[in-house]
Amino acid sequence: MWSPRTGTWMWRAALCCMLLETCLHSARGLNMCMSGSATSCEECLLIHPSCAWCAQEEFGRGRSLTSRCDFSQNLQKRGCESRFIEFPTSSISILRNRPLSSKGSGSTQYDVVQIMPQKISLSLRPGDQTWFGLQVRQVEDYPVDLYYLMDLSLSMKDDLHTIRNLGTKLAEEMGKLTSNFRLGFGTFVDKNMSPFSYTAPKYQENPCNGYKLFPNCVPTFGFRHILSLTDKVDRFNEEVQKQMVSRNRDAPEGGFDAILQAAVCKEEIGWRKEAYHLLVFATDDVPHLALDGRLGGLVQPHDGRCHLNDKNEYSASTKMDYPSLALLGEKLAENNIFLIFAVTKRLYVIYKNFTALIPGTTVEILDQDSKNVIQLIITAYNNIRSKVELSVWDHPEDISLSFTATCQDGRPLPGLRKCADLMIGDTVSFNVSVEARGCPPRGADHSFTIKPVGFKDRLEVVVDYQCDCGCSRTAQTNSSICSSIGTYNCGTCHCEPGYLGARCECQEGEASSMYLSACREAEGKQICSGRGECSCNQCLCYESEFGKIYGSFCECDDFSCARHKGILCSGHGECHCGECKCHAGYIGDNCNCSMETSSCISGDGRMCHGRGNCVCGRCQCTEPGAFGDTCEKCPTCPDACGTKRECIECRLFNSGRLADNQTCQRLCKDEIITVETLKTDDPGAVLCLYKTDNDCVMKFTYSEHASGTSILTALKEPECGGGTDALTVLLAVVGSILLVGVVLLAVWKLVITVHDRREFARFQSARSRARYEMASNPLYKQPVSTHFVETDFNMYGKSYNGGVH
Ligand SMILES: *[C@@H]1O[C@H](CO)[C@@H](O)[C@H](O)[C@H]1NC(C)=O
Ligand SMILES: *[C@@H]1O[C@H](CO)[C@@H](O)[C@H](O)[C@H]1NC(C)=O
Ligand SMILES: *[C@@H]1O[C@H](CO)[C@@H](O)[C@H](O)[C@H]1NC(C)=O
Ligand SMILES: *[C@@H]1O[C@H](CO)[C@@H](O)[C@H](O)[C@H]1NC(C)=O
Ligand SMILES: *[C@@H]1O[C@H](CO)[C@@H](O)[C@H](O)[C@H]1NC(C)=O
Repeated sequence: MWSPRTGTWMWRAALCCMLLETCLHSARGLNMCMSGSATSCEECLLIHPSCAWCAQEEFGRGRSLTSRCDFSQNLQKRGCESRFIEFPTSSISILRNRPLSSKGSGSTQYDVVQIMPQKISLSLRPGDQTWFGLQVRQVEDYPVDLYYLMDLSLSMKDDLHTIRNLGTKLAEEMGKLTSNFRLGFGTFVDKNMSPFSYTAPKYQENPCNGYKLFPNCVPTFGFRHILSLTDKVDRFNEEVQKQMVSRNRDAPEGGFDAILQAAVCKEEIGWRKEAYHLLVFATDDVPHLALDGRLGGLVQPHDGRCHLNDKNEYSASTKMDYPSLALLGEKLAENNIFLIFAVTKRLYVIYKNFTALIPGTTVEILDQDSKNVIQLIITAYNNIRSKVELSVWDHPEDISLSFTATCQDGRPLPGLRKCADLMIGDTVSFNVSVEARGCPPRGADHSFTIKPVGFKDRLEVVVDYQCDCGCSRTAQTNSSICSSIGTYNCGTCHCEPGYLGARCECQEGEASSMYLSACREAEGKQICSGRGECSCNQCLCYESEFGKIYGSFCECDDFSCARHKGILCSGHGECHCGECKCHAGYIGDNCNCSMETSSCISGDGRMCHGRGNCVCGRCQCTEPGAFGDTCEKCPTCPDACGTKRECIECRLFNSGRLADNQTCQRLCKDEIITVETLKTDDPGAVLCLYKTDNDCVMKFTYSEHASGTSILTALKEPECGGGTDALTVLLAVVGSILLVGVVLLAVWKLVITVHDRREFARFQSARSRARYEMASNPLYKQPVSTHFVETDFNMYGKSYNGGVH
């Protein structure tokens, strides 16, 4: 149980539990039984079903106080004798358990048993779930009572003809299913009042008066019981043949009035206790429902009682409204009646909807003239007998029940309380879990019934609640244990007003409210923080497995402080009343921050290599790209080449600042690889070069690997000579620029020369050609011209042509 009262404390305990690996342990030490601060045995039992109370007088009065409410095994461990431990649990006892019968009819038919057990008693402790099993069997050859309730409105006249011999045929068919079958008969039309029927005087004796197709019928009636259930099926035929149809005005019929009477008039109808009760309701129209009666001025709701007069007619037909579906369902269930709606196809959907609202009903389609009625009844009967469904009657609100059905295939179906598709004679079992949710007020009636729908058989369940402690029965008033001024009950004293203390040994001061306030840290808080007892205005704190609980309100302890990696105050402080008091050199909520900076000093004596700050004894690098315990690694830092150069110098050539010095060994732990030629295309590596004393150039690359090692890849020897001389390089560069320039000039010169030569040659040849062709110089024109004169001026074109010639 997780009550708000215990909230904060439980939360802390839970946190503790999460951090500490010994979760189980902690659950036992700081458990809900103790933290509930129960002051009496009854309160303790209500906290959780696993809480127990120690009623031993001397328990927990030694060095330090302990709670009387705890897990049973804890109480025992703490020295409570087991006979003083109050720890009731839920239990079941079976009071009547006669075996299931295998056959229904026979010499001992009154003893047919279809449910087992028949009576049990439950002793429930609130919150403690328990279960019991029950078995149900549809026994073979069980007696059947069938009451045929027929609509006698005019439209049913052909049906009446068809069922004349129903009795004989039905008895024959049912005889195959049961050796003990009885049949009864009743009819209905509607309320004989306006607007449901014809009420004019000329219709009183014959409502069909003047109706050409069918001029004679009997007066309208609500319900008429004609034949009580009997095994003489010929009587059924006789009675049916005597019936005549009637006539009513509106389409809906008063069938629900008739169903209710047929269900509740047990004596008149003759329902047997030990038989299946089938009520076949044959109609070809919709029924009137509750409130329809108001149309005729009937405001009184149906009272659910039998109202048959000495003529076996429903006498309240024109006094009460039609019954509601709920009332109908209740009365049918109460009398274990299976209702079969035999209706024409048109009405199937409507009545199907009714079956959803009225439990234990089925609907079958009746042919227009009732030809298939026997088949219909057999089908419905088989349908009903293939199902077992449990219903619970008078279910007390504070008990929760959950069912698991095990049907014929042996597979448990949780949450189900019914089985279908059974064969007659099959046994099904149910597992019923029961749990009381609380303690009911004393004197309330505690029993309920579990019943398979439609069976007379039932399981009676008597419930009593384990809400009291046995020790309360021997409570002593004015006990000497309680200084003769209190009631000694289950190990504790309940003092008379004005006295207080564990033994009523203190007398109250002037202010009576002092008692409680002196043991509370603040208004609204628990007495002694829920971790101790108030005695004479002082808190006596409980013992705990984890450490000490102390403070004037038991508000402090030395074990619920902040932890780091599961260690209280990181092991660098003391826990005081929920707060870590750190040892010198440590700070922080959980004392995990060391003020020591020596671990931040890098090999070169600087704090974090000058690239970061020392926080809680660890370097936090600020320089971009820097990492490592002391930020010593940083390939991209500007001075990277400078620091590594010294290592190359001292390690490879034993020269430089660190040469002949132990510090080379200490500071230069990098891996150095020497190569003939250096590859410089690795993007992760930084290329460094420096000039040696003898004007050579030393090259190396520096890279940091993911594994944390830095690798220096260096040339075996520095590169010496012209190739690397800066001047040589300069000269070479200048030289090559000049050379390229000269070459380019030469090429240009060559191209120009070749071009010029070609042009000149072309000019020469052109000139020589010109000399030969001087005679046909295009500029030269012959000085002589010839002209012809045309004589015909009419034709413009001719003269033009003549001009060309
Ligand atoms: C039957 O019930 C269904 C669903 O509840 C509803 O849609 C339908 O209209 C009902 N039919 C009749 C005829 O009342
Ligand atoms: C009945 O159900 C309970 C739990 O709901 C389970 O512990 C018990 O074993 C079940 N009994 C049987 C016979 O299946
Ligand atoms: C208990 O003591 C009170 C006062 O001391 C007295 O009034 C009462 O009658 C006593 N009850 C019994 C049962 O002795
Ligand atoms: C100290 O503990 C706090 C809280 O658990 C944590 O956030 C922090 O990282 C820890 N510091 C160190 C240096 O371990
Ligand atoms: C080694 O080198 C360090 C740093 O350059 C210097 O402080 C120290 O005196 C040197 N020690 C010796 C023995 O040369």
